[in-house]
Amino acid sequence: MKKSVTVFAPATVANISCGFDIMGFALKGAGDVVTVSVSDGPAGDEIILKGRYAGSVPAGRSRNSAGASADAMLAALGRKEMNIQITLEKNLPVGSGMGSSAAGAAASVYALNSLLGSPFDTKELIPFAMEGERAACGTAHADNVAPSLLGGFVLIRSYDPLDIITVKIPEGIQCVVIHPHIEVKTSDARRVLRKDFPLSTVTRQSANTAALMTGLLTGDFDLVGRSMNDLLAEPRRTQLIPGFHSAKKAALEAGAIGCGISGSGPSVFALCTGNVSSEAVGSAMQKAFLAAGLSSDLIISPLMAPGASLINAEINDIQ
Ligand code: HSE
Repeated sequence: MKKSVTVFAPATVANISCGFDIMGFALKGAGDVVTVSVSDGPAGDEIILKGRYAGSVPAGRSRNSAGASADAMLAALGRKEMNIQITLEKNLPVGSGMGSSAAGAAASVYALNSLLGSPFDTKELIPFAMEGERAACGTAHADNVAPSLLGGFVLIRSYDPLDIITVKIPEGIQCVVIHPHIEVKTSDARRVLRKDFPLSTVTRQSANTAALMTGLLTGDFDLVGRSMNDLLAEPRRTQLIPGFHSAKKAALEAGAIGCGISGSGPSVFALCTGNVSSEAVGSAMQKAFLAAGLSSDLIISPLMAPGASLINAEINDIQ
């Protein structure tokens, strides 16, 4: 039997402009690490926090996405009383728009599943990770947890019943993510949204979403760029991101095919192809944020990056 499992789960970009709450993709090279261990003592109310952003998340198990998602899985298995210890290495900044709470939840359920001998396949872990999102930000959206678990590009066709599709996007697209150094809570970024829209807006948004997928699948990058137009969230959320408009303009002028808010922000992503330099696009965006008074970090990743993966498993020698 395993006594301890350590898992990495990546950061993600959700929404991809016009796909609010229904699409996202994994990023390479940035993410959270969770270790789940069989504990000798009683199941504690707190998880252990490590890493650069340990001080930004609650240790209380029911309020932390890593703890709440693991507890949802134990409840589904009828093993609520199982004594486990969760250690979260919080490497992703909180309130960044890069799926920080999702990565913690995804790594946690992936590790716990492995510890328990894999009673679920990876897709079946998504609803548990969604409970982690609910604990962290109040809504159980799946567009960060699903790509963090599965990797690559993921489409959520339906939430009820959950219908999640992994989409194989042809190679050749790179993503630049700029994280300006301010925090935007997902709950706040959802509070500013309009709740109802005219039919004409819904029609235009649906057309963009369908065209975005078509462009990605056929390699028609002009179409991808034309379709990255969000009429639902972006118009309301830009007020929370100083420098957003100039960063977007700078990205497009530097040759990006499209640019938008990553998840609920403040991070901003741009897609690049061909001989356009992602570094040049990233640097133009960072300069724009700096002019707005914000320093920032940069990530450059291929669009199809791997999902959650095992780093280490310790086997118990007592059978
Ligand atoms: N789809 C979610 C939102 C993603 O935009 O609120 C949060 O990262």
